[in-house]
Amino acid sequence: MSQSDILCKTLGERVSVRVFPSQMVASIVVARRIAELIRAKQAAGMPAVLGLATGNTPIQVYAELVRMHREEGLSFANVVTFNLDEYYPMPASSALSYVSFMRKHLFDHVDIPQEQIHIPDGTLDEEAILGYCRDYDQKIEDFGGLDFQLLGIGLTGHIGFNEPGSTPDTVTRLVTLADLTRRDAIDTFGGLAHVPEKAITMGMRSILQAREIVLMAWSPKKAEIVKKALEGEISAEVPATFLQLCPQVEFILDRGAASLLSEYV
Ligand code: GLP
Repeated sequence: MSQSDILCKTLGERVSVRVFPSQMVASIVVARRIAELIRAKQAAGMPAVLGLATGNTPIQVYAELVRMHREEGLSFANVVTFNLDEYYPMPASSALSYVSFMRKHLFDHVDIPQEQIHIPDGTLDEEAILGYCRDYDQKIEDFGGLDFQLLGIGLTGHIGFNEPGSTPDTVTRLVTLADLTRRDAIDTFGGLAHVPEKAITMGMRSILQAREIVLMAWSPKKAEIVKKALEGEISAEVPATFLQLCPQVEFILDRGAASLLSEYV
């Protein structure tokens, strides 16, 4: 990959946006950035605290990280992860759980110690959720916050499962999924009736406080919501718009996802 493969354009004053010719090239760039962070923290004898996302969007980033582990000796021994969300209820053993997703795409293939992996628990009794969520946020804080947060974006403008109505001060909690979000998951679950109605999501607060944030989006399917997130009025109606207020955010897009942006040519 050479520099000329990368169409690079900064849109607007506040948020940096980079548009790549393909999601493959973009994913490699993001994976390298994560690898650099991991190595820098290793050199300093510190943990690299990563907030991780699920969904189709980050799959190639994880594939590249696994390749770097296998072929370039990138170690995950100092990596601590906090996943954004999990469906509720959801047994970890289900093929549809985000636990299974993360094992399949990343954790089973790298040397991260099991106890350094955190994914919201979809098996809790309802009365245990509040305390569990408090502990989840506390653990993030105990590690000094997230060094890096990887994000996709849902069609409602959700980040994690922070659906419309989520304000920047929200904490990790049990949420009800938006209708559009559930419909978007129909193929995965084999019918709307099988899509869970709830999820546990990391709150907006921990996400927005991450020291680096990368939101990735691919394909024209995401173009409209990406435009709203970057150019729309900042409002809880589209939670991703709060990223406009964060100077540490970068949007990494392919041409399809960027196709409706007014400053993209
Ligand atoms: C799910 C996840 C989000 C993700 C979004 C987009 O709802 N909870 O974290 O960003 O979907 O999914 P995809 O990447 O498959 O488009």
